[in-house]
Amino acid sequence: LTDGPLKGKQILVTSGPTHEPIDPVRYIANRSSGAQGTAIAVALRDLGADVIFVTGPADIPPPTGVHVIKVETAREMKNAVDTALPVDAAVFAAAVADWRMAQETHSKIKKKNGALPELKFAENPDILAGVAQLKKNRPKLVVGFAAETDNVIENATLKLGRKGCDWIVANDVSPDTGIMGGSENAVTLISNGNADVWPRMGKSEVAQKLAARIAQELTAS
Ligand code: C5P
Repeated sequence: LTDGPLKGKQILVTSGPTHEPIDPVRYIANRSSGAQGTAIAVALRDLGADVIFVTGPADIPPPTGVHVIKVETAREMKNAVDTALPVDAAVFAAAVADWRMAQETHSKIKKKNGALPELKFAENPDILAGVAQLKKNRPKLVVGFAAETDNVIENATLKLGRKGCDWIVANDVSPDTGIMGGSENAVTLISNGNADVWPRMGKSEVAQKLAARIAQELTAS
């Protein structure tokens, strides 16, 4: 066990995409490598936290020294998160699919002479908003992410209010930034009326800086 400022603190991290099956061989998903969520779990672990890492099917393996719960769909992720509570803090870095199929299809959809399948969607639960708005068992600190392509700070600030979380880590994922799937990130940490713009840095540095802020917050009386 690591000694550190977060020793004895339970911290939940969601990471990676979710996959929502269309049929047994196809799915819809958001783009997410899991790199930033994994780096955050590592940084929190290294400050001594007990990390519960709920991850969808990511490109990279989960870190060691954390409690890993692997899930596939948003609904499985929500169940895993609910089961992990109570925790001291929760960081929602997963790129959860907003929609799933309205109906499960257990056999492969076949091509039929050019007739196109009609896919009907249902909305997935918002896991972050659900936890942020809990009356009982709400973590002391709830951190969300906002991947935006336009008006990053403005949109992220609106999102913070809508979801009811304490902080939002906003990042610009416009295609020309190379951030999606890359090793660097440029984020702004938004917390009650403050927008703290961090210079572009490695995802591990972002994670370490965020973990340090979390430690500060959880240990301040
Ligand atoms: O609304 P949007 O998906 O942009 O919000 C992003 C934030 O909300 C991220 O922290 C993400 O992990 C979280 N989220 C969630 N459950 C969803 C959708 C998003 O936890 N269904």
